[in-house]
Amino acid sequence: MHVSLAGPEYMKVSWMTADKSVPAIVEYGTQSGNLLQKATGVSKSYTFLTYQSGQMHHVKLGPLLDSTTYFYRCGGFGPEYNFTTPPPSGPSVPIKFAVVGDLGQTDWTASTLQHVAAQGYDVLLFAGDLSYADYIQPRWDTFGQMMSPYANYKPWMVTHGNHEEEQIPLLVKSFLAFNTRWEMPYNESGSNSNLYYSFEVAGVHVLMLGSYAEFDSSSAQYKWLQADLAKVDRTKTPWLIAMLHAPWYNSNTAHQGETESTDMMAAMETLLYQHNVDILFAGHVHAYERNLRVYKNQLNDCGIVHITIGDGGNREGLATK
Ligand SMILES: [Fe+2]
Repeated sequence: MHVSLAGPEYMKVSWMTADKSVPAIVEYGTQSGNLLQKATGVSKSYTFLTYQSGQMHHVKLGPLLDSTTYFYRCGGFGPEYNFTTPPPSGPSVPIKFAVVGDLGQTDWTASTLQHVAAQGYDVLLFAGDLSYADYIQPRWDTFGQMMSPYANYKPWMVTHGNHEEEQIPLLVKSFLAFNTRWEMPYNESGSNSNLYYSFEVAGVHVLMLGSYAEFDSSSAQYKWLQADLAKVDRTKTPWLIAMLHAPWYNSNTAHQGETESTDMMAAMETLLYQHNVDILFAGHVHAYERNLRVYKNQLNDCGIVHITIGDGGNREGLATK
C-alpha cells in the first residue's frame, strides 16, 4: 500500500490484494469513521514466468484540500488509514522532502525508514532501486509490505533504477513489475512513460528522470523534458529539482564510466543547465556525496549541485572507496 501525488489537488492510493474480486474503490473523508466520498480506479496484474501477481489497484482521489489529513478505506472493507496532503502551491511555501535511494529490504533499510519517519516530511523522493527483487517476484510483495506503514500516510514519488529493469528477452518486457506496482503521474505531466515524469508541489518543480529509458536528443524522454522545462514558471516554482538513478558526478570507485551516467550527462546536462536546475539527486552509488555547483566538469556559479544518496541500506552494502 502506498500513496502518491497524481496531478494538482489529486492523490493516488495504490494497494495490492491477493483476492482478485476486490474492487478498485476507495472511500475517504476528512473525518475518521465518516468516509462519505468514494473514488473508483483501475486494477492490474501481471505474469512473470510462473509467478502470478495479485491485483494492484490504483485509485485517484480528489480534488483534495492542501495540508489536510484524509481518512480512507480500500476495496470497501478493512481497516481505515490516513494520509496528509502536501502544502499549497506558492513560491515561498515551506516544504520538507525526504530523499532516499537504493533502499532494498534489509535491517539497514528498516533503520533508514525509521530515521526518515522520525524526521517527518511532506513528500518522499526515491531515486530508484526499490526492492532488489532481481527477478524473484515475491520479493516485490515483501518490499511492498515493508514499505506500506511508511508509504501509506505521505506521498512517495519514485523513479526507476537498474534493479527495476528485470527484462527477459521474448518472455518478460522490462520494468513490468515496477510499472504495474509503482504507477506515477506520467500522464498528468504529459509524459508517455512511467519511466520519466514531473510534478509540482509548494514552490518546487520536480523532474523525475529515467536513467534506463532512452535519453538522447531524438528520444521521447528528451523531447518531453524540453517541453516540460519550457512550461516551468519560476515565479510560481522558484525551485527546480531533478532526480535520477545513475549519478553524473561521482568520485566513488563504484559505477565509474557507465553509459547511463556519461552518455546521459552528455545528452542532457546543457538542457538542465540552461533551465537553471538547482539540485540533481541520484542514487546507484551506495554512498553519500555532494558536489559544489558544476557544469561540464568545472566549477560554475550557475551550475547544478549534484547530490548522491544511494546509501539507503540494500543488501549489496555500502560503496566505501
Ligand atoms: Fe543501481
